[in-house]
Amino acid sequence: MSKDFSAMEDSNPSSNPSIHEVSSPTRRRVLQGGLGGVVTSLLAPLSSVAVLSGCATVGSPDKLIGFKSVPATRIDDLIVPEGYTATAAFMWGEPVGVAGAMPEWKADASNSAADQELQLGMHHDGMNYFPLDGSKRGLLVMNHEYTDDGLLHKDGMQAWSAEKVRKSMAAHGVGVIEIEDRNGSWDIVRPSQYARRITAATPVALSGPAAGHPMMCTAADPAGIAVLGTMANCAHGHTPWGTYLTCEENWASYFNGRAKPTAHEARWGLRKEGRGYRWHEHEERFDLNKHENEPNRFGWVVEIDPMDPTSTPIKRTALGRAAHEGAWVAQTKAGRAVVYMAEDAQFEYIYKFVSRDRVKPGGFAANKELLDHGTLFVAKFNNDNSGEWIEVSHGKNGLTAENGFANQGDVLIKSRQAGDILGATKMDRPEWIAIDPHNGEVYCTLTNNTRRGADKQPAADAANPRVNNTMGNIIKWKEAGDFDGASFTWSHFVMAGDPANQRAQTQGNIKGDIFGSPDGLWFDDRGILWIQTDAHSTNMHKDDYAGIGNNMMLAADPRTGEVRRFLVGPVNCEVTGVVCTPDMRTMFVNIQHPGESPTDRSDPADPSKYSTWPSGQKGARPRSATVVIRKKDGGMIGT
Ligand code: FEO
Ligand code: CA
Ligand code: CA
Repeated sequence: MSKDFSAMEDSNPSSNPSIHEVSSPTRRRVLQGGLGGVVTSLLAPLSSVAVLSGCATVGSPDKLIGFKSVPATRIDDLIVPEGYTATAAFMWGEPVGVAGAMPEWKADASNSAADQELQLGMHHDGMNYFPLDGSKRGLLVMNHEYTDDGLLHKDGMQAWSAEKVRKSMAAHGVGVIEIEDRNGSWDIVRPSQYARRITAATPVALSGPAAGHPMMCTAADPAGIAVLGTMANCAHGHTPWGTYLTCEENWASYFNGRAKPTAHEARWGLRKEGRGYRWHEHEERFDLNKHENEPNRFGWVVEIDPMDPTSTPIKRTALGRAAHEGAWVAQTKAGRAVVYMAEDAQFEYIYKFVSRDRVKPGGFAANKELLDHGTLFVAKFNNDNSGEWIEVSHGKNGLTAENGFANQGDVLIKSRQAGDILGATKMDRPEWIAIDPHNGEVYCTLTNNTRRGADKQPAADAANPRVNNTMGNIIKWKEAGDFDGASFTWSHFVMAGDPANQRAQTQGNIKGDIFGSPDGLWFDDRGILWIQTDAHSTNMHKDDYAGIGNNMMLAADPRTGEVRRFLVGPVNCEVTGVVCTPDMRTMFVNIQHPGESPTDRSDPADPSKYSTWPSGQKGARPRSATVVIRKKDGGMIGT
């Protein structure tokens, strides 16, 4: 998320820094590769693409990346390399395909809340592809992180109503669509037995040590075991047993807090009026003055079985509470699941959870409680490039009743406060995590942190070495032993920023194409590291970003450090979410909030002020969408 709708007046150094922050399927835009080819053609066919079955083979070490990089731009279009096509698809408002309930999207945003509950949500983010028939048909499960209510409703936030709140809640959450490669065009299968929307109103179960805790109980749920909804779903993860993990990031933005928040509320960034969503005006549970425990029921990692549309999503409290960016799962040689998580906020922490039990064969049915039992750790990056995982368990390391932690439920609900006591390292907005499939090194993006080193803020340290860090970097570590190791050694993979920039703190050490504010991060099976960027809409024009332009996606070779720009998104978008089919011949990339206003929600009277993507039509609402990328010669993506 790249948007902050309000001034950054927070003085609590640990509160969330910000909410940061096409046409119908029959009129898709096909974008031809190369800057010379960005002129788009409506209704153009995709080039024929050979689809091969089976797993990708590991490329020759010398040719891990083979495409010709694209230039940085500020144009309002999406660019991919020569020899590639990119098609905008799976857009906000398209019906997901529930049988008998497939309302078409209306270009004037006059769809009802009930319609939106059956359509893809807004602001696509993390996603995963679950094969049903290899690389020809599968489920695409994606997060809808937040809404721009200036675009979501026909007349924006004017005449605010219960219907608008319901529609806004319905545009959040998760979308499950069945997609199929039909002779070179990926289409949503409609109807589909799998099609589903999970929204901020869907019943969700609570499990793990914090379920039933007194701080989780509300008038509507006195047992503290059932929540309505998941929201602020940023990045994601998936498990070896076939489930999807969706992660609640800027949930604090949706609550009307107290004028004088408690210390607990302040630590979590809860404040009066939240960040202007105004849900509480018609959904009382979002007013913590009336329901003080409701916020404690958000900030969790939520497990979803995508294969069963009747299944109840489960908030796994054993993994701790945070403004969760995502949750990425590794498996030890002994079969334990290790879940890496980062909290995207200035000066917050990196965590890992190690399951007590081993992953069993048999899918979700055999692993239903695997994420309920285990040990949580938080990372400390020492200045000598060593690091350690500090256990976040009640009764250990000062997490005792005297310090405000009477039990493990307390520890998990107050994970931030626990991290403070444990002396965890305050990071520069840690976001996505990716694990090198060849050597097990773990990479994490540190997007930026403009408050690093400011008055009364934490100083620079070895892991977060830049004062006023506008550019960010990518850190990596190698565990001692297996993924459940107690210590690690770390280094920086790359410092982002233009080496030619006049400000020394901004000069990166990138070998190749320049970028700033790395956010999304994904290793494909061959070992290519894909990097996606989220430079804040409001700092796009600052001097630091002058030569960098729109947000983008790049491919890096971890062995050589070379970074090559693969895609540039349209104006004021964020590029976030990437996955390929198993044969590596189709890539899905999410474009979030094209044309986002740098200062406010979009103006419904002039919705295409900054961007017309993907329709290209003046006056049309820009739409978040999934971009389907293929090689014209049918080859693997990245070659
Ligand atoms: Fe939702 Fe941290 O990006
Ligand atoms: Ca982001
Ligand atoms: Ca992100």
